[in-house]
This record gives sequence, structure tokens and C-alpha cells, in this order.
Amino acid sequence: MPKYAKVFSGLLTPELLRKMKVQYEKYGFCMYKGLCEAQCDAAILEQWREVILKQEWKDDIKIKVHSLSDNRILDVNKKEDQEEFLRAVRGPFSKKELELLKTGWPLHRGFGATCDPSVFHLQSVWDIRQDPDHYTIASYMLEDDKLWVGVNRSIQKLPGQGEEEFLHGDFNMLFPASDDGEDEVKQLCGKVGYTSTQFLCVPKSHTREFQQQVVEQYSEHYPHAKPSDKKFGFDLSKPDPMGLVEKSRLLIVPLGVFLFWKDKLIHGQKKTPINKPVEYGQYLGYWVKGKGSRDEYQATCGVCELDDRLRSYNEGVAPLLWPSFDKIQFYPKKFDNFPNIMKAYIEKLDVGHPMVVNGFMKNGKPKQYLIPMPRVNYVPPVLSELGQMLLGIREWPDTNGKRAAVDEADPGSASKKQRKDGKQAAVDEADLGGASKKQRK
Ligand SMILES: [Fe+2]
Repeated sequence: MPKYAKVFSGLLTPELLRKMKVQYEKYGFCMYKGLCEAQCDAAILEQWREVILKQEWKDDIKIKVHSLSDNRILDVNKKEDQEEFLRAVRGPFSKKELELLKTGWPLHRGFGATCDPSVFHLQSVWDIRQDPDHYTIASYMLEDDKLWVGVNRSIQKLPGQGEEEFLHGDFNMLFPASDDGEDEVKQLCGKVGYTSTQFLCVPKSHTREFQQQVVEQYSEHYPHAKPSDKKFGFDLSKPDPMGLVEKSRLLIVPLGVFLFWKDKLIHGQKKTPINKPVEYGQYLGYWVKGKGSRDEYQATCGVCELDDRLRSYNEGVAPLLWPSFDKIQFYPKKFDNFPNIMKAYIEKLDVGHPMVVNGFMKNGKPKQYLIPMPRVNYVPPVLSELGQMLLGIREWPDTNGKRAAVDEADPGSASKKQRKDGKQAAVDEADLGGASKKQRK
């Protein structure tokens, strides 16, 4: 496994882009530091202000953030309280504190990323999506200028939480597309942590050759895999002829570092260790816009993809589907099969709360379930021209879309801002021949 060192200080130069691309193509991912601590802090405060403190739970369940010195309740909006507020909500926490947090945390606590309507269109989340540098990097990796950005969720994962998910691919690995994937949309997956985060993956597993070997060596052990499956997950109890477990690596992704990975990279999920701070962050993915709305989107949910993106932005609600075409669930779907779990959540709300709705199960039995609260006074985040094009509310100018040679991808205008933000790229020293002395300083 190569060493990933934070060796470049300063500018997003064509040279740096080239180096990141080498890493991206070789290992299936690249990392770079793109947010300074102050930006991360502002994004954490926004998550608390707009999401965590706005949970509708009964008053004794709602989380109150206390001063560590005099125990008064801290105000997330008061400048003089914010430093202490941030210290208090980062953790690590005692067992008792963690229990209180777990009880008052948003839905999807187990996964660590809520689907509350508010998370999809926060201003700082959009500021990151439409940052010209992240766009430049994404478009360089995807070799195309005309992209759409994923309307995805924020991350707020408590210590000890997060689904333990073994190695998998978010596509049908054992039945690869027979047309060589030419119709496939080129996309890049990513996330950034406002605190340190982690990522489990098998480096170099994204290549066609690697996955051909997977088909040849694993198919016999997975006789129930079907061509219609959308995903493929490895089973730890089955043979592992290519030694994927041994080849997998848990990457530690420091605060403010962006991780972009290829959609074909084999990856997994690990719980956040109990003695660690909360993981805050957001997912960030881009794909080549191509002809725009994808047919599969409409075929899956009955709504044109662009219409749904614009409705989601204009109304401040979740889109119907994830970029993967899976349905976005306001509460974890398994709650429907475990009425007692659902009941425990319903009981956290006042009797007669408008989030609780009566309906019926598939077998006709009555059930209660949860719906999001309507947005009140929602104002859509401010979008730059670039942001509008990345959302789809504005058309990309009529060019051929292919990114030109790297030297023309000169993000020169970003240089001053980058210096201010302290942007750095984390690249593979060993593999890329190391940085120049000047860059190392
Ligand atoms: Fe995945």
C-alpha cells in the first residue's frame, strides 16, 4: 500500500491535477485537502443549526448542548458560544453522553446520515458542490466539462454507529454489462469529512482486468447471484481466492480532505470506533451530464430526473431517488418490518404529532409510519452560474463537453482563494515520484 502524504501546499496547478489523475486511475481513488478547519467548523455548526437541533422529538429527548465549564445551554447562533459548542459536539463522549445523543439523534442514526429534507440543500453543502476547484478536479477526472452534481446527504455519524458493511460493489460485478459499458454514465463518487473520517476499499480493484478475475474466481461461490441484481456484496464466510480481505485498506481521511473514488472500486463500511469523535461531513459525487435526465430514473420512479432535481431544490426536499436509482427513505425501511422499532420512534414524538401517519401494511394490517415535516420559510441556497449548471437549472454552454488538454484546465483564478483556504492535495509520494522540494515546504 502506498503512503499518502500531504505534500503539496498551495495551488491547484495543471501539474497537480495530472498527478491526482495518475493516482485516481491507478488506485481507483484520489485525495486532496480542500477545506480548512474554519470551513469545516462552519459546516458542523450548520448541521446542528439546521438538522440536529431541529428534530421534532419531545422536549426531554431533544439534544441540548451544555457548556463544559458552567453547564449552561449553549446557543449555536451566538458567536461567543460557538467555539465551546464545537468542542462539545465533536466528542469523544462518555457512555452517558453518548446515550443522550443517540436518543435525540436524527433518523438513520445507525447509518450515520439522515434523510431529513433539510440536509439536501444546505448553503454550505451547496457551496462545496459548486466550488470551482472541486468541479475542476471532478471534470478532469471524468474528462468532461458538462457535469451534474449529486443531490446527496450530509454525514453525522456518532461513535459506535455506522453499518458494518463488508466489501461490495455498487453495481452487478458478477454480470458486467455486455456492451462494455459504453452506455454507462461516467461518474465519480466522493465524500469529505468536516472531522476525520475513514474509508474501506480494495485499492486497484476498479479495473476491468481485476473485475474480470473476480467474475472468473468468485462466480462459482455465489450461485444465487442474478443478472438483474443491482449490487454485489462479498460474503466473509465464503472463499476469497484473490485475497480481497487482505488487500483491503482502511483509509484514514483527515478533516477537510476530499476523497473521490471510481464507481467500480470495491469498498465497504466500518463502524466509527466508540472512543472517536463524531464523523461530520457530506457525500459529493459528480457525473457526466450527457443527454441529461436518465431514462432509468423516470422508469424507476415515474418522474423525469431533471424535474425531480429542480423540485427538490426549489422546495427544499429530498429527491425521489439517489444517484444510484435507489429510493430515498425518510426513515430506515426496516422499521416497516419491525413495528416495535417504529413504535419506539413514534413515542419520542408528542401524541398527535403531524409526522405520524396511519396507513396499512402490505398484508392489510394497520400501521403507523413517519413523514417529514413540511418546510416552513425555506429559501433555496444561493447558486452561482456554475452551481446552476451543476444542478440543471441552467444549460451548459454549447461546447462539445470534452475537457481539453490539462494545461487548458488552468484554474488560475482559484489560486488566491486556495492560498487563503490552505488547500493541499494528498498524493501518493512513492508512486508519483514525490513532490518537488518547493512543494514540500
Ligand atoms: Fe457502497
